[in-house]
Amino acid sequence: MTFAKKILITGGAGFIGSHLVQHFVKKYPSYQIINLDKLTYAGNLENLKEIENAPNYKFAKGDITDESFIQELFDVHQFDGVIHLAAESHVDRSISDPMSFIMTNIVGTVNLLNAARKNWEGEAGKLFYHVSTDEVYGSLGAEGFFTEDTPYDPRSPYSASKASSDHLVRAYHHTYDMPILVSNCSNNYGPFQFPEKLIPLVINNIKENKPLPIYGDGKYTRDWLWVGDHVEAIDLIYHKGNVGETYNIGGNNERMNLELVHDLCDVVDEMLGRDAGSSRALIHFVKDRPGHDRRYAIDATKLKDELQWEPSVGVKEGLRRTAKWYLDQSEWLERVTSGTYRTYYEEQYSSR
Ligand code: NAD
Ligand code: DAU
Repeated sequence: MTFAKKILITGGAGFIGSHLVQHFVKKYPSYQIINLDKLTYAGNLENLKEIENAPNYKFAKGDITDESFIQELFDVHQFDGVIHLAAESHVDRSISDPMSFIMTNIVGTVNLLNAARKNWEGEAGKLFYHVSTDEVYGSLGAEGFFTEDTPYDPRSPYSASKASSDHLVRAYHHTYDMPILVSNCSNNYGPFQFPEKLIPLVINNIKENKPLPIYGDGKYTRDWLWVGDHVEAIDLIYHKGNVGETYNIGGNNERMNLELVHDLCDVVDEMLGRDAGSSRALIHFVKDRPGHDRRYAIDATKLKDELQWEPSVGVKEGLRRTAKWYLDQSEWLERVTSGTYRTYYEEQYSSR
């Protein structure tokens, strides 16, 4: 079967990656999508069950830090494009183990860039799209927004590793003419997010009557984006973005953490038929995250003006959908937290 385009999506078994892979496989049957993922604790092929047998989908288990494996993959598949999401993504883990972030997020990205450069050798019509984070811009006070021109000021090992990879992607554009795109996005939420991140962690703990840990004073603010809106933005940018450019993606949905957790308590109480406000009693203020960024907020005007993208799901509706999904998916939750889900898939994909 010949395909109009062959696209490598890295990190496609993770939270955002699995939504993106499903979207591309279903929406573009004429493209072949190759999903490269190491299947770390955050990667779960169960998220891709719906499309795992689609004729335009292939999975490749591998590590982006493995230079010869990556080079071979490019030689075999002759990709037209790369959408790079594979990363270590959790800030708290970067504080306890920075080196794995340096290896995957920086060295892994350079490996992919080198393989693309060698394989493409200046051919027209190729594209390397790097999916990044708003955390590279640092921390805001009560006012203001991050624009594409905000100077970089990363403050955690995670954001420093993502900032470094962004710089390297742009450096390959300037130095070697690599056709690139970068987007920097705010906090995503929705189904299939590993329950170490605030929203799924809180929903699960409410359900189980466990304490809800709030770091510091709980007045830290994030700009929440429904994962499906992020996927739509990536699709648009990949197809219509101006090569060499950066686009900010945001939800226009700022919430202080404590406010967000209150909302989640109320939604879950209602769904579980508990007394209104009862889960708020589970809130526990705990020791703050070291170097915790106070506020992130995105100005996504460029994306709106150039590509007519706007978020479609508000945080109220998004939290309801997310809470419902997690409450309905007790078995998924149990499997990803126990690790037993690996056995089946690791048997299937024990070799590349
Ligand atoms: P995730 O942690 O859910 O998934 C990461 C995926 O990458 C996993 O499937 C994992 O197995 C894979 N992976 C990790 N190391 C690898 C390696 N060495 N080789 C191959 N695969 C490897 O992450 P996510 O939340 O889906 O984030 C995806 C991307 O989007 C990341 O680059 C992240 O920085 C960026 N991002 C995330 C958010 C967010 O709110 N989650 C916001 C903005 C940007
Ligand atoms: O802004 C985009 C980034 O958003 C992405 O690049 C990261 O990959 C993603 O993990 C996310 O980073 P955050 O650190 O903002 O997400 P997290 O869910 O870990 O935390 C959200 C906020 O909630 C943050 O202020 C820390 C706080 N928090 C988090 C946890 C896990 C708590 O108060 N208690 C918790 O238990």
